[in-house]
Amino acid sequence: MIAKPEAAPDVPRRTSVPRAHHFRGSLGRFATGVAIVTFDGATKRHGITVNSFTSVSMEPPLVLVSIARTAKAHDELAGRPFTVNILGAEQRHLAMHFAGRPGPEPLWVEGGTAPRLTNVLAYFECKPWAAYDGGDHTLYLGEVVDFNYRNGDALAFANSAFTTIPESQLGMEDLL
Ligand SMILES: Cc1cc2nc3c(=O)[nH]c(=O)nc-3n(C[C@H](O)[C@H](O)[C@H](O)COP(=O)(O)O)c2cc1C
Repeated sequence: MIAKPEAAPDVPRRTSVPRAHHFRGSLGRFATGVAIVTFDGATKRHGITVNSFTSVSMEPPLVLVSIARTAKAHDELAGRPFTVNILGAEQRHLAMHFAGRPGPEPLWVEGGTAPRLTNVLAYFECKPWAAYDGGDHTLYLGEVVDFNYRNGDALAFANSAFTTIPESQLGMEDLL
């Protein structure tokens, strides 16, 4: 007699948990880095913490961030140059600062295409390329005109919490 195969472990289907809460929770299982989009608006400087950063194109060099329509920075970002600042492990306070938990004023680097934050793990200064409807977000694509990185541990966001990724696990650039 052939033995009945054991049921493979599986993620349970949703039951009574509110949909939006569970959708966020499910999305939160996707581990990402943490970045801050910085730019000068008409009258004030903006910064917003994001984990929706994605590389899009090598030639031309394009990157993408997805910004909530409700965010203060949303409308002013349209048509403006911006910097994507990728945070290092010790820069969690900056992620909090630009996510509505302000601390001491961060240090800025002026004079580029757009303002950027000092000593981040990597930065991408961008000219506006395109903006696409993304439901309750807008997908802003930027053409990278300047960039650089330093060595160091990365700040990450995984399972809906901050964590860090040691530098030693980052060295796979030859695979990409
Ligand atoms: C780890 C993390 C990732 C986030 N990712 C995004 C994102 O990709 N897009 C976005 O619009 N808001 C994102 N947010 C939320 C914004 O940072 C937050 O709502 C911000 O305070 C909105 O700015 P405002 O209060 O000036 O409107 C994220 C927040 C955190 C802590």
